[in-house]
Amino acid sequence: MTARILVCGGAGYIGSHMVRQLVERGYDVVVFDNLSYGNAAAIPQSVPLIQGDLLDTDALKALFAQNAFDAVYHFAALISVGESVSAPDIYYRNNVVGTLNLLDAMRTTGVERFVFSSTAATFGNPETPLIAEDHPKNPLNPYGRTKLMIEQVLADYGHAYGIRSVCFRYFNAAGADPSGEIGEAHDPETHLVPNVLLAALGARDGLDIFGEDYDTRDGTCIRDYVHVNDIASAHLAALEYMDANPGAHVFNLGNGDGFSIMEVIAAAEKVTGRKIPYRVGPRREGDAAILVADSSRAKALLGWSPATPDVETIIETAWNWHRAPKYGPFAK
Ligand code: UFG
Repeated sequence: MTARILVCGGAGYIGSHMVRQLVERGYDVVVFDNLSYGNAAAIPQSVPLIQGDLLDTDALKALFAQNAFDAVYHFAALISVGESVSAPDIYYRNNVVGTLNLLDAMRTTGVERFVFSSTAATFGNPETPLIAEDHPKNPLNPYGRTKLMIEQVLADYGHAYGIRSVCFRYFNAAGADPSGEIGEAHDPETHLVPNVLLAALGARDGLDIFGEDYDTRDGTCIRDYVHVNDIASAHLAALEYMDANPGAHVFNLGNGDGFSIMEVIAAAEKVTGRKIPYRVGPRREGDAAILVADSSRAKALLGWSPATPDVETIIETAWNWHRAPKYGPFAK
């Protein structure tokens, strides 16, 4: 029988790439999304979209009563580090209470497999050049704390209720599906790669660089950019992994290479053939100086192998979507 998978947040950036991979592999997919940030057009027409909110427990009850899910992927969260510092209440409510509601709905209907989008922001400033899963967790912002809380909840729920889970700590998701049909856009856009490409397109008045006085090789923050489809492929492997391994599991997902903001700009200038205007401003609250992954656990235990580890290729896939008139952020 075809497995039926619930994808919460399936209309969002990472969720919509996940939905594509699941559909391509023949899974029966249902998307639950409040469309506060997601885009219904990013989901294939064959996939049912239930518009609803994780804070609406009646909607969740109905969803789980009407469908027998084999597993749940949870991508529906608020994700802006800076906003989480200025408005932590909505982050704790959406990311923590919303996830608890989802786990309650799973428990009451006997759904036992859960894949959770966690983040490198759970670590804080690293004590080692590469961050492995057991690195100390000292999140610098409420966003990171909401994700760490749910990781802890999942360990306890695994023990007490038999919920099997995999948490993926994404480093910096970037890039777009090679079809050029779906990609990354938020409103307002806060992420580096899309902002660099919007600046290349002249759709924004240059890039604002948040700080050049960090203790890094050029003073700007260093991140590990990982292709969105490589993140999705790890989630596919997680299904089988949970079958064989009860309990709660955590994996880092990154390429193990760090790029500064200036290096991302240089790579984007090469890919686009355009000059990217920028100005340097103050630091953004809640930012770590350097976040680079040690993903050897995902490679060893899930057989994960990123297909698109090169940062220029990652940016190129994003660029192909950004400039696609039919599908990009300015498609009508
Ligand atoms: N940055 C700029 N200008 C911009 C946007 C970003 O200078 O217009 C800087 C940021 O200050 C940061 C770096 O570029 O130093 C990357 O910023 P992003 O907002 O693209 O990504 P973050 O590293 O803040 O956060 C992302 C995801 C989080 C995730 C985190 C893990 O948004 O969900 O990666 O590393 F937790």
